[in-house]
Amino acid sequence: MKTATATAHSNIALVKYWGKRADAPPALNLPAVGSLSMTLDGLRTVTTVAAAGSDSFSLDGEAVSGKPEQKVYAHLDRLWASAHETPRPRCAVTSINHLPTAAGLASSASGFAALTMAAATAFELDLTTARLSEFSRMGSGSAARSIFGGFVRLDAGEAADGRDCVARPLAGAEDWPLRLVVVQTTRGVKPVGSTEGMQASRDTSPYYQPWVDTSIQDLDAAQAAIEARDLPRLGAIVEHSCFKMHACMMATVPPIVYWKPASLGAIHAVWAAREEGLHGYVTMDAGPHVKVLCLSLIHI
Ligand code: PMV
Repeated sequence: MKTATATAHSNIALVKYWGKRADAPPALNLPAVGSLSMTLDGLRTVTTVAAAGSDSFSLDGEAVSGKPEQKVYAHLDRLWASAHETPRPRCAVTSINHLPTAAGLASSASGFAALTMAAATAFELDLTTARLSEFSRMGSGSAARSIFGGFVRLDAGEAADGRDCVARPLAGAEDWPLRLVVVQTTRGVKPVGSTEGMQASRDTSPYYQPWVDTSIQDLDAAQAAIEARDLPRLGAIVEHSCFKMHACMMATVPPIVYWKPASLGAIHAVWAAREEGLHGYVTMDAGPHVKVLCLSLIHI
């Protein structure tokens, strides 16, 4: 193997993914719903994979242990095993997050996409972007989308082995220069991880099935709005998908409420600004931060 470094950018879903397919093996990590995202220029992870005497994983200069560390090694195992029958060489994985980790700013998306690309090169696997997206998805659902820039759609797919659950780009960043302003409402790590939360919603939220059943129409409508470069139309779908997902989360037993008072304050501030004629639309993920979709000032 050789030493390889890769950079992947984080992405934020405009049409959300929440829930995993119940009929598929958990290791494939197949989503129950499709999603559509925007890749972010400003938030990224840089990861290096190199041969070493023993496995290690460091993030932002600190050794990582426990579940996150095990997830990284399991990811290396599945990439290596896709092309080799010999035992995987031991690796030193070094990541730098140019964004807050595990706080609802999609660090797992950029993290697993960067790890997939760096390991694929280090292991000299010649993978297509579709395969890179498929492998990234097995690490984290949203990571499948971070293989591409711009606006990206990930369909849930139907194949039992998940081969048709790969992301595809819809439009490049330069085709429609939208911006996403991140309102960081708190510091620290989110209380409920997405895998755990999705499982609990599927098991207990009365809104889970309606959420799954109505997602495809949001996906198609958002894609059409992107093709038409129609921000008010896209913004309405973005907010609807976000609030529908959070309603499903909040109706989970026990409730999953990622919002903080400052989150609601930011939402109302954006809505008040909209009354004044500013085109800003809110979305939130598995964390308290509010992201505002808007036009770049220089493009107004
Ligand atoms: O990819 P995960 O397992 O971190 O889940 C992402 C879930 C949301 O951020 C809430 C929505 C999404 O589509 O990114």
